[in-house]
Amino acid sequence: MQQIRVFIVDDAQNTREDIKRFLYFEEDMEVVGEASTGEEAVSLCKDGKPDVILMDINLPGMDGIQASEQISLLLPEAAIVIISIQGEQEYLKKAMAAGARDYLVKPFTSMELAETVRRVCAFARKKRLHLVGEEKPNAKVRAKNGKIITLFSTKGGVGKTTVACNLAIAIAAESLKDVVLVDLDLQGGDVSVILNFNNVQTIADLVQEDIENDPTVTDTCLSAHFSGVNVLSAPASPEQAELVTPQHINSLIGYLKTRFDFVVVDTAPHYSEINLNVLEMSDSVVVMLAQDLPTLKHTRSTIEVLSALNHREKINLVLNRLRSDGISVKELEKSLDLALAAAIPTDDRTVLQSVNKGQPFVLGQKSSRVSECIFELAKMMSREKKTDQNTSKITAPMNPIKKLFSLSR
Ligand SMILES: Nc1ncnc2c1ncn2[C@@H]1O[C@H](COP(=O)(O)OP(=O)(O)OP(=O)(O)O)[C@@H](O)[C@H]1O
Ligand SMILES: [Mg+2]
Repeated sequence: MQQIRVFIVDDAQNTREDIKRFLYFEEDMEVVGEASTGEEAVSLCKDGKPDVILMDINLPGMDGIQASEQISLLLPEAAIVIISIQGEQEYLKKAMAAGARDYLVKPFTSMELAETVRRVCAFARKKRLHLVGEEKPNAKVRAKNGKIITLFSTKGGVGKTTVACNLAIAIAAESLKDVVLVDLDLQGGDVSVILNFNNVQTIADLVQEDIENDPTVTDTCLSAHFSGVNVLSAPASPEQAELVTPQHINSLIGYLKTRFDFVVVDTAPHYSEINLNVLEMSDSVVVMLAQDLPTLKHTRSTIEVLSALNHREKINLVLNRLRSDGISVKELEKSLDLALAAAIPTDDRTVLQSVNKGQPFVLGQKSSRVSECIFELAKMMSREKKTDQNTSKITAPMNPIKKLFSLSR
């Protein structure tokens, strides 16, 4: 087992002692040094060759942000984790800009500490391998022109995530092609919970990377699910999500399209710039629907927006939680002037069991009716031709918010 070398910077001796006590029980970690001031940290840090530096913000003299800035230049391979009582967004942004990898708000548990240390260290090691070329995709392999399938609805809780996870796995099983699932519900994404991933790299790990110039760094944050699907998870905390920009997402989605045959994207329920860009880049948009009036209203507006943006032909209307006592399918189709592409039944037992086990139902309960419906949808999605506008080389989308705004005037 490769030891993780940890250096602690905090002016409070008892905090340093607490951290040492926490880490003492972690067999794969050793504390290689400590400092109580920023200056001391800068001068001592390089001797211990730490993998991870735990850095307090409020230090006498040079503060933790300035010290992080200097240390990240001196030791670019080490991962800095800010530990501070200030959980505010401003500090997080400054710390990330200064080169920190992550942020722990005091008081934290020994488990939170150990998990964060392991995760940032794993990312730093993966990135090192990536930089020396060991994990870079072979440049000679022809770039793919994958199909982007986005699940969308401005109504929360209609089943986007449930269907996205199961659909990605079903597409991989049906097509035997390379599939990546991207969780773009940046503030509250739960794909990693549904797929039972713990403590994995996330989109937040990419925010300090020069992803526009080297989008291949995205590979370092992909997690392999045992189904064969690769997964790019949403940030672990809402504060980290704030740091992700539309440019990051454009670059990573554009890149994943060249690496995978199918890019399945789960989204948050609103018209953010990120979502609108992704809808623009998508070949197919699965608009999720339910049999109640508020959802119908949201769906109608989504169809109007997508039509105004010239994306009506991408829409695949999918009804989830089909039931006999809701608005009928016939009425829904008439009201929306669009036929359903699929209707997935309500199956509380199968879905709940699968979520609680962390095993998608298309794997664990393959013969259930919900799974059969997802497989039918997957067949359709993997057969369906790509829309013309996306068959060429990917380009950065024009600003869809502006486009939408000009259309509505
Ligand atoms: N076909 C189904 N049968 C029974 N339960 C379902 C079905 N589809 C989804 N659910 C349940 O409905 C709830 C909402 O599903 P999910 O989280 O996938 O929706 P969402 O659209 O992603 O929500 P959000 O907008 O909050 O991200 C979950 O508890 C899920 O287990
Ligand atoms: Mg969701």
